[in-house]
Amino acid sequence: MTLDTTRDAANETMPRDGMSIIDTDRYPLDQPDSDALQQEITQARAGLEKDGCARLSGFIRPEAHAALAFETTALSPLALHSSEEYTPYGSGPDDSFPTDHPRRRAHRTTSGSVTRDLIPTDGLIQQIYGNPYLIAFIAACLSADEIYQFADPMRGLIINSMDEGNVLGWHFDANEFIVSLMTRRAEVGGVFEYCPGIRAPGNENFEDVKGVLDGKPDLIKNLDLQVGDLQLFKGRYSLHRVNQIEKGTRHTAIFGYTRQPGFIGSVASTMKVYGRVMQEHIDAEHTRQTDGLAD
Ligand SMILES: [Fe+2]
Repeated sequence: MTLDTTRDAANETMPRDGMSIIDTDRYPLDQPDSDALQQEITQARAGLEKDGCARLSGFIRPEAHAALAFETTALSPLALHSSEEYTPYGSGPDDSFPTDHPRRRAHRTTSGSVTRDLIPTDGLIQQIYGNPYLIAFIAACLSADEIYQFADPMRGLIINSMDEGNVLGWHFDANEFIVSLMTRRAEVGGVFEYCPGIRAPGNENFEDVKGVLDGKPDLIKNLDLQVGDLQLFKGRYSLHRVNQIEKGTRHTAIFGYTRQPGFIGSVASTMKVYGRVMQEHIDAEHTRQTDGLAD
């Protein structure tokens, strides 16, 4: 199905709060003790335990899909586009390893990012990201007492935009988990592929990682996300990628939460990824340095 992303289709009369577009019949977030929600939490926990991945299908009501796609499509011209080659470990190739070793094999990643400071606070995406019921629900799925939105004014919320020919190469994430919401699905390609638990602390399992990079399909699972699906994913131990977009455009909103409050990315890493920083990054850097000297 191709989404109509025109302004008419966006249904401008739709209430601008995150709750009204969530399918609360299936996911009654405001009734955390209800059987229906407890069942979803149990299922999500099982998926995270088994595969490091939980898909919450149909999280957004179908009648809101066009409005979501319209919002991310309207914001996508603001995306910063990058095209870089990384190894699965987020760095450039290390020539001290043999040529076919995973530490030496880089894959292209081409995509665009719209940072939180450019996303309207009264839009649907920001309203969903900050919805306290959603935050409590995700914490429950992760078996955490509480989780917090990033304090980072840019990284907390990202709209990832991929056009034809774009690809996210095989990689592990640096952060423990991500939450993403698909708002626009490519017509061909752009499928999420992952290898559950292919590595573990103390065991990089380069042999199987090499097998995946060589194209062996046996360890790879596909998750063909649909518009309105929410995905919880632990990417620290599961190699993953988004395969090349062959036709159409793919948009996801990436929600940044952490187990500790106050996360702000460093000036150096923010400059590297987004080409700019904000005052909050500079202030946080100063605090970090002051704390270091106080010891
Ligand atoms: Fe990732």
